[in-house]
Amino acid sequence: MNFVYPDRNVVLIGFMGTGKSSVGRELARRWGFRFLDTDSIIRNQCGKSIAEIFSVFGEPFFRDQEFATLTNLLQCHRSVIATGGGIVIQPRNVDLLGKLGTTIWLKADQTTILERVSRNKNRPLLQTTDPETTIARLLIERGPLYESAADLVVDSSGLSHHEVAEKVIAGLQSIQG
Ligand code: S3P
Repeated sequence: MNFVYPDRNVVLIGFMGTGKSSVGRELARRWGFRFLDTDSIIRNQCGKSIAEIFSVFGEPFFRDQEFATLTNLLQCHRSVIATGGGIVIQPRNVDLLGKLGTTIWLKADQTTILERVSRNKNRPLLQTTDPETTIARLLIERGPLYESAADLVVDSSGLSHHEVAEKVIAGLQSIQG
């Protein structure tokens, strides 16, 4: 097997709670790549949490920051980039994702997502009276967007981050040869 590490950046997309940051960190460590996370970059630039950015400046401001962040990341190499769950809702971002690297959709079933996101209250879009229904609606809206943006799909349902990282590596091996 010749595969040592990817020949391009690896970009993780997918719904909230699918393990993009944890899996991304593990992949970056294994390959000696840099780990970058669009939410963290935006948080650092604004000096506020994502929840505060939504409540003080509004969602459209946050979405503009996502686009600006992706644009700046085009200069990066040897990086694993985790993106916010809503990155695919702007077509201009989808164009950038393809230029940035190999795009991997980490998908998970609704039960796994609900279980994972209910552990913290940092996700403004899920601060609704019925988060389960909100998740179901967003999954329906976004599923086709993730699918069409992805070079590779990896199901993370019920798996540990380590197991998901192994699946990503196997998947990359199959497309990279
Ligand atoms: C969002 C997902 C979040 C964060 C913001 C909006 C979304 O990132 O970018 O709360 O629209 O799905 P995670 O997917 O890392 O939770």
